[in-house]
Amino acid sequence: MSEVRRATALAHPNIALSKYWGKLPCDGNFPAVPSLSVTLEGMCTRTTVAFEAEPGDDVLTLGGAPMLHGREKAVRLLSQVRRVAGLRGRAVVESANDFPTGSGLASSASGFAALALAASAAAGLPFAAAEVSALAREASASAARSVFGGFVELALGAAGASPFAPKEALPLVVLVCVATEERKAVASTDGMRQTAAESPYYAAWLSHAPTLHVRLCDALRRGELSEVGALAEASALAMHASALAAGVVYFRGVTLDVLAEVRAMRRGGLEAYATIDAGPHVKVLARASDRDAVRARVAAVPGVLRLIETVPGDAARLVEEGP
Ligand code: PMV
Repeated sequence: MSEVRRATALAHPNIALSKYWGKLPCDGNFPAVPSLSVTLEGMCTRTTVAFEAEPGDDVLTLGGAPMLHGREKAVRLLSQVRRVAGLRGRAVVESANDFPTGSGLASSASGFAALALAASAAAGLPFAAAEVSALAREASASAARSVFGGFVELALGAAGASPFAPKEALPLVVLVCVATEERKAVASTDGMRQTAAESPYYAAWLSHAPTLHVRLCDALRRGELSEVGALAEASALAMHASALAAGVVYFRGVTLDVLAEVRAMRRGGLEAYATIDAGPHVKVLARASDRDAVRARVAAVPGVLRLIETVPGDAARLVEEGP
């Protein structure tokens, strides 16, 4: 019998329609507000985890180079899996993204979802998706949502995320307006910490976000794309308002230019909505039937390097398993 136990998983990033920003003041990496996201086909992380028999330092690579950012969180996740499975050997992890890493395109979401799934399978743990999601959440709360496909909720205080609606619930296209291929300056955990410590608007965000979330869930249940889009834009702007007041600025000129174009489209009767995470890229939400018109308008905004076109996608999944 081989000494190596190995599994490979694929996971997609997700974008939050109602955002999480800020953590509960307790251990375990629990968000301070509920969130609802959509998992995105068209961008993908592929991760292979192999547990060897011999102990030693874990070896982690991302895109063929040693993993630097996020290494500590990844090793913590692997150690937890080893503890539960009773393994002692080192892990060898190879991960690759087919989109820019660490620049606010939710690579931590797909990365830790793929890692949690591949590691628990390689260790032979019979985890249900909810348990994989809870494992991923401890490393990156948004990763808990990427374990599931379609529309996904991470409720306040929940260990893991849960499916909210299938990917067919809204005929949505999401155009990611890539503003830079660089890494973001402030990691989201640091941005959240600074917002909680210094923003005069953090308390307002904490009381407003759950209300937006409930309204958005309700609009999604009714399949009201216009309402979901408007609430998603409102959630992103409220989150950034609280961060901006603490000096945490993810926007660049192009971020505001795309936002202005999205609003100009709406004034002209073409429905498009913007959402922005901890980075400068605007993600434009539109009706699938308006794809060509919206695409042409955002592609023409100076500073948009390229567009990544995505639609609601599937859950994280194992693609290889075995010795
Ligand atoms: O889970 P993290 O540490 O990648 O933080 C995610 C924060 C946002 O992307 C800005 C919002 C969200 O809910 O995904």
